[in-house]
Amino acid sequence: MLGNLWTKSAPQMVGIDIGSHEIKAVLLSKHTDGFKIVNHISVPLRKGAVVDHDIREQESVSEALSIVKRRFPKSVKYAAASVSGSAVMTKVIYMDASLSEEDMESQIEIEADNLIPYSLDEVSIDFETLNVNSADPSKVDVLLSACRTENIDAKIDALDQVDLEAKVIDVEGYALGRSFELIVDQLPEGASDKVVAMIDIGANILTFAAVEKGETTFIREQTFGGEQFTQSIQSFYGMTNEDAEKAKVTGELPRDYMFEVLSPFQTQLLQQIKRTLQIFCTSSGKENVDYIVLSGGTARLEGIANVIMSELGTQTIIANPFKGCLSADDKDTEILQNNIGKYMVAFGLALRSYAQWRT
Ligand SMILES: Nc1ncnc2c1ncn2[C@@H]1O[C@H](COP(=O)(O)OP(=O)(O)OP(=O)(O)O)[C@@H](O)[C@H]1O
Ligand SMILES: [Mg+2]
Repeated sequence: MLGNLWTKSAPQMVGIDIGSHEIKAVLLSKHTDGFKIVNHISVPLRKGAVVDHDIREQESVSEALSIVKRRFPKSVKYAAASVSGSAVMTKVIYMDASLSEEDMESQIEIEADNLIPYSLDEVSIDFETLNVNSADPSKVDVLLSACRTENIDAKIDALDQVDLEAKVIDVEGYALGRSFELIVDQLPEGASDKVVAMIDIGANILTFAAVEKGETTFIREQTFGGEQFTQSIQSFYGMTNEDAEKAKVTGELPRDYMFEVLSPFQTQLLQQIKRTLQIFCTSSGKENVDYIVLSGGTARLEGIANVIMSELGTQTIIANPFKGCLSADDKDTEILQNNIGKYMVAFGLALRSYAQWRT
């Protein structure tokens, strides 16, 4: 059912990002000058437990989620999680601005039927009115999202097993786009009126969200991430995957590593980003994006922002919401200082606690 009632405030939810490398969870509180981290945790997952953001080994995920749950106060009962990958379809459609909510819903069902390659009773659909259409002010842009219900249910069930009620199942790209709010002050003044590419590079998935005037207007995912780099180290130096992962993170590798493995990986990463930017530009009619903001564990790879900036000519930064409007207690700030960027999707999910709430 598509809902249309807005109530005043959303329940407080832990944002839980179930990635293939780690589950990351965070609870935020809102203050006059921004947001504060109340609690946070990341729990590693067994390789293969989550693939393409799909839960493959329920037991491992459940175990990790129970560690997550214990980290938060007992009073925390609600969570916001996300779906992504091939189960999710999104599209911006244009509708007559004068349509009533009811007419909008019927038209959305027709559009959804055309967009989705499954029968409508296998999918859950949602929509959100964005801005007035820039080419035709009599129309509004409406973002339509659809996901296979079984993928949504898998996330709801996993959370339910640890006594967390999934109040929101978002689309990962939109959660990433929402986290822009936390880093907008990290960018030069006026960035909130520009086109910003938020790019999260995880272990297996690269998520792209284009944010224009603060609204996410385009998302895309590619199967590409740091695990590919780990595997290159593994095969080049004949290491186990575990040792290669360790060596990658500590940087304890032979000197030729930069040339032999890092540089080819950077080239591949650049190609992936260029391709997505191209698709975004073609579909939006934009010539380029104004800024690139990198996040995810793999954005910690040495020199990544500089390579992207010099190759693409676009100002590129690594997300650090502590330079934006996020704060934390001193101890948490110190712990998170160097790896805050991997929490961007979880932040975007946790921010749903403070967004408009539709029932
Ligand atoms: N200091 C570091 N240097 C290089 N790579 C790192 C570093 N720290 C973490 N990584 C890499 O980041 C990746 C994990 O990032 P992240 O936590 O964002 O992934 P994920 O969300 O679990 O995965 P995905 O979204 O792709 O399913 C791993 O490949 C890990 O090796
Ligand atoms: Mg991720």
